[in-house]
Amino acid sequence: MKNIDPNHIAIIMDGNGRWAESKKHSRLWGHIKGSQTAQDIVEAAINKNISYLTLFAFSTENWKRPVSEVQFLIKLLERHIKKRKADLLKQNVRVLCVGDLTPFPDHLKNELSDIQKATSKCTGLTLIFALNYGGKQEILQAAFKAAQAAFSSSSKLTSKEKFLELFESHLEFSTIPDPDLIIRTSGEQRISNFMLWSSAYSELYFSPKFWPDFSKQDFFEAINEYSCRQRRFGGLKHMDPIKESLA
Ligand code: IPE
Ligand code: IPE
Ligand code: MG
Repeated sequence: MKNIDPNHIAIIMDGNGRWAESKKHSRLWGHIKGSQTAQDIVEAAINKNISYLTLFAFSTENWKRPVSEVQFLIKLLERHIKKRKADLLKQNVRVLCVGDLTPFPDHLKNELSDIQKATSKCTGLTLIFALNYGGKQEILQAAFKAAQAAFSSSSKLTSKEKFLELFESHLEFSTIPDPDLIIRTSGEQRISNFMLWSSAYSELYFSPKFWPDFSKQDFFEAINEYSCRQRRFGGLKHMDPIKESLA
């Protein structure tokens, strides 16, 4: 039996630099092409009626890159958001951001805040940009906030389950369902500090294509493969109804 289409797809958009270098261009050209691919894949997600799409656009580790590349990425992101705002609104897309935006320049922060406000009532696709996002940082921050809340509250923490509830409420993705499918392009087969908590039972799909070459068709193929996977979440494929009712 086929799975229904994924409710939440998250993408590690990787390979812009190598794509450009393979064509004897500068890495920056690859990022420009990559932002066009992002636009195409958002359209494909809308066509497929996907509810949540998360795009990993800048990691907490990407600051290690040359300042010129980081500055270019910041400018490109700002331009992308400005250019896409009206269309996203028309397409009923709600935009959210996760990650620590504080180190970004004010003009980018303002654009991001504007688009989130402008689209906050949209009921179609929820498009989440992960910016200066890191999975470890998300967990650390949630644990820290939960511990602070627990210590400052007069009601004692009575169980791990209660702490888990408090901890999860402080995760950046707390209001977003866990990703069903995580796609990474460029042939690399690693998570690179992406969604470490919520990906516990995500299906992983690795495409050999560099992100600028990843097409709508490739996106649909990934969804198709997902639909043939068997998800068990630690259970069994065929649960025996008699035993289940005894449990
Ligand atoms: C992904 O492409 C974009 C970002 C990480 C911002 P890369 O820039 O990582 O491209 P490669 O992996 O070096 O080819
Ligand atoms: C992951 O790609 C981050 C983003 C796509 C934003 P990287 O290119 O930064 O990851 P590594 O360095 O190859 O693991
Ligand atoms: Mg990369």
